[in-house]
Amino acid sequence: MPTSSATPDNPLREGLLSRSVPEPCSLVIFGATGDLNHRKLIPALYNLAADGNLPPSISVVGFARREKTDEQFRTELETAARKFSRQKINDELWSNFASSIFYHRSEFNDLSGYESLARRLDELDAQRGTRGNRLFYLSVGPDQFPIILENLRKSGLNKANDGSWARVIVEKPFGTDLPSAIELNSTVREVFNEADTYRIDHYLGKETAQNIMVLRFANAIFEQLWNARYVHHVQITASEPLGVGGRAGYYDKSGAMRDMVQNHLLQLLTLTAMEPPTDLSADAIRDEKVKVLRSLRRISGADVAKYTVRAQYTAGSVNGEDVLGYLQEENMPAGSQTETYVALEVNVDNWRWAGVPFFIRVGKRLPKGATEIALHFKSVPPVLFHQTGQTIDDNVLVIRIQPDEGVSLRMSAKLPGSSLRIEPVKMDFHYGTSFGKATPEAYERLLLDAMAGDATLFARRDEVEEAWKFVDAIRAAWDSGEGGPLATYSAGTWGPDEADALVNRSGATWRRL
Ligand code: BG6
Repeated sequence: MPTSSATPDNPLREGLLSRSVPEPCSLVIFGATGDLNHRKLIPALYNLAADGNLPPSISVVGFARREKTDEQFRTELETAARKFSRQKINDELWSNFASSIFYHRSEFNDLSGYESLARRLDELDAQRGTRGNRLFYLSVGPDQFPIILENLRKSGLNKANDGSWARVIVEKPFGTDLPSAIELNSTVREVFNEADTYRIDHYLGKETAQNIMVLRFANAIFEQLWNARYVHHVQITASEPLGVGGRAGYYDKSGAMRDMVQNHLLQLLTLTAMEPPTDLSADAIRDEKVKVLRSLRRISGADVAKYTVRAQYTAGSVNGEDVLGYLQEENMPAGSQTETYVALEVNVDNWRWAGVPFFIRVGKRLPKGATEIALHFKSVPPVLFHQTGQTIDDNVLVIRIQPDEGVSLRMSAKLPGSSLRIEPVKMDFHYGTSFGKATPEAYERLLLDAMAGDATLFARRDEVEEAWKFVDAIRAAWDSGEGGPLATYSAGTWGPDEADALVNRSGATWRRL
């Protein structure tokens, strides 16, 4: 039965799943004076409040080491919200929202600070009707996770009263390799059940990432073509013009592989490659994603030099501005070998994808900021139009994750006129024009889901560990030198020549974004 794309039950408009209602709760943010809280969490909460999506009662409690009053904290957050909010701040809405923000000062290793937090949360429950529900957000470096978790356990804050819940949101990086991820997972597990543990990968909160499943499974036409019979190869790109800036301390230990590939890029790959789940429950979807990760052909030893490229940017010019090379960035260790660019050929060894390379490309200081997934279809047989001597471009389906969110399909059409000239044309869907409203920020959706107890868009323990297994094998060969040398590329270019050679041997070229 045909329906209009503007019907209220359109899944793109309403989100992938019919959502459970977020419940009244206290959200405790550890590391509340940090960057993430100012740039992302508070703006996300304000936008949820402005759109009427927050639960009827909520208290946001910032937990951090510096001395300050509730009022000072609110004023600082207001300045940040005015700078980073998606929607312009409305004074009245802000002051209403700000009255639900509180500050709790304590060292992370001081148990008495957690005991006083417990008393304060009880008082807030009584005053504000938050019903004993607690959501703890670990917005701190991973070295602080164990002590915070231990003190949550010792103070009993990890245990909810009957009829209430206690959950924890853990920010990335979730470990730095498989052993550290397993250790971290075990530490969390001693304090919270897996069902109450929400591991953030903010790419999963992006509207366009959620739309991959709708595009594939709510349309009869695409899924038939979504396999090795029709797809020649897939390209997944995340390019950023930004450099490492003031983040040398974190980034130099991480590199593009740990910072982006292990989490965001592999998540996009699993959503693209997974089988249809049995239903829309969090576990059914994550079961399918884990199967993809398990099917990734391991790249190790001498194969690493063949299937991977890693590179570091040197000085150059991005958007007309001269920028420093990686090694000249502030506080960078001399001679660092950390990669800021990675290109990979990944093979998914299952029936659907046998023989279809998935090319992943991610880098800093590239000419443009864009994230997309492109399915390149096989060529038409060389009969009919080839006799006219024309090249016919292959069909390409592009899912634009950001910016200019949307989907486009490249196809061939006859140029109007008396001769037979074939040109590529595009069918294009833009979120902005089709739905007439800005897509929400990833953190808005994720915070709401955690309050509603929906873990679909969070990474499960086995997902994180499988992703590390794949990444660790590559990193081991890079570290031992077996994986080939670190290449370089000038800032403002699309990466090293080696990355072109990687795709060229499969008869592909990187898309120009
Ligand atoms: C973060 C990485 O997880 O994702 C950053 O640590 C990166 O290095 C960022 O810049 C990219 O996120 P987005 O949403 O801007 O694509």
